[in-house]
Amino acid sequence: MARGRAALSATLKVAVLAGDGIGPEVVVEAVRVLTALRGDGLALEFRSALVGSAATDAVGNPLPAETLALCRQSDAILFGAVGGPRYDALPRAQRPEQGLLRLRQELGLFANLRPVVIFPQLAAASTLKPEVVAGLDLLIVRELTGDIYFGQPRGIRVLASGEREGFDTRRYRESEIVRIADVAFAAARRRARRLCSVDKANVLETTQLWREVVTTVGVEYPDVALSHMYVDNAAMQLLRDPRQFDVIVTGNMFGDILSDEASMLTGSIGLLPSASLDADGRGLYEPIHGSAPDIAGRDIANPLAAILSAAMMLRYSLQQERAAERVERAVGAVLERGLRTADLARPGEQVIGTRAMGTAVAAALSEPR
Ligand code: IPM
Ligand code: MG
Repeated sequence: MARGRAALSATLKVAVLAGDGIGPEVVVEAVRVLTALRGDGLALEFRSALVGSAATDAVGNPLPAETLALCRQSDAILFGAVGGPRYDALPRAQRPEQGLLRLRQELGLFANLRPVVIFPQLAAASTLKPEVVAGLDLLIVRELTGDIYFGQPRGIRVLASGEREGFDTRRYRESEIVRIADVAFAAARRRARRLCSVDKANVLETTQLWREVVTTVGVEYPDVALSHMYVDNAAMQLLRDPRQFDVIVTGNMFGDILSDEASMLTGSIGLLPSASLDADGRGLYEPIHGSAPDIAGRDIANPLAAILSAAMMLRYSLQQERAAERVERAVGAVLERGLRTADLARPGEQVIGTRAMGTAVAAALSEPR
């Protein structure tokens, strides 16, 4: 992405990669909200490009060179989702998920921040009891460019016996662990100063090294209380008592799984934004919910995760903290008013669609506090 932080007055270039399934519907609402911020001294320029199945259909490649080039020239990337059942039979390189995985790798987006925050208006939307989740505010820091996702060798081979065997390689270099640990400790410093590193050090060599390296990095952050937890226990503790956590740091695969689990604490995966940052804080912003092909094109998806991802973009890559807070407040305001998409509504509550929700958030931006 473009070198150098965007100056306050300059036009900020945002690459819009809507992708598949509900991606386009929710990203349109995020852009609507960002556009409504204009007039706040904020000049944003949006440029769209293909990714995922749409790109595979058009050019046979889920991450076309033009898309990658646009991302490199932009100040930030707003991403929808990729994936769909139609493509599950394709060779791996053409599958839509590869568009996202290659983007993460090519741009060095190693630090994935997934905040899990309960809006007070929605404490009852969680499947857990309100007294377990009320006030929840945790941050999952997931390593995003290493681990079993990218380790070589991998494949499906035929053994001498004629039987097939699938294999992947899980690996982490010390330097990869150090840089994600630094991001997590620094984040904990800005919060409640507690960091829990999640691993499987009782079984896996890679995570034994992970634990050693995180402990060593922790010496430089004496003001942050570091603890370690095995991933199976962490999965259980997230449901038993999620508020014990402040910041969780973990590898790519455990982070993938735990962040989906944690999202449900908030009542809906349709609420969770994420940021994927490189070493200079430039990044890609996406809702964590994925493409949800079963509900695509029906104006029922929840756009709030995409809108909150846009807020993270304003904060982390565009240095627009005030605008980010305005967006987050506007989301709180529409929830306060009782507006609910289908995933959030309780029986008997009135439901609004994707577009109506986005429009309501955009309108709420200009309301007095
Ligand atoms: C996520 C998604 C991706 C992942 C998929 C779509 C490749 O599940 O961002 O969590 O596994 O990282
Ligand atoms: Mg996932």
